Amino acid sequence: MRLVLSEEQIRDGVADLSRQITGDYRGRPLTVLGALTGSLVFLSDLIRQLDFRLQVGLIRARSYRGRSILPGALTIQDAEMPEIAGRDVLLLDDIFDTGRTLAGLVETLRELRPASLKTAVLLLKQGRSEVPMVPDYYCFEIPDVFVVGYGLDYNDEYRHLPHVAALDKDEL
Ligand code: XMP
Repeated sequence: MRLVLSEEQIRDGVADLSRQITGDYRGRPLTVLGALTGSLVFLSDLIRQLDFRLQVGLIRARSYRGRSILPGALTIQDAEMPEIAGRDVLLLDDIFDTGRTLAGLVETLRELRPASLKTAVLLLKQGRSEVPMVPDYYCFEIPDVFVVGYGLDYNDEYRHLPHVAALDKDEL
């Protein structure tokens, strides 16, 4: 494994992001939605630095598994999600890779009529996007490598690492 982002770099990146978000929302009540499971660590660090009224919820994206998988054809398991109609919503995910997951979640959440909907990711992978959107906020751009740690997993392992590391092909 190769270190990509140290614990300290992540701490600084998340702190910068929290200042940006605090400035942009100027105290307007916010609903922060974390996409399970990868955003858990990012979510818990970020929300503790947002010192204004906010609600927190969790969602899980589910792809339809059928003969054709359309981009955006996602359902959301929303058991842990508060009502978002009329609210300012910030959707968090761990990584924007092809962007299909985030784009699908955005499309589905828009149907619930939030007052506004923005997206934030910890990592933006370079040169991989397959969708016509970019996240409103991101902490770090990374090259096209498979990364784990700080919530990101390989077979549900490594999520607990406090840093982000790249797994080489022979480790996958
Ligand atoms: P897309 O391609 O839809 O991917 O933007 C989003 C989801 O895929 C997972 N993913 C990764 N997980 N290391 C991981 O541990 C990676 O490099 C990686 N790339 C994508 C992740 O769950 C993300 O939410």
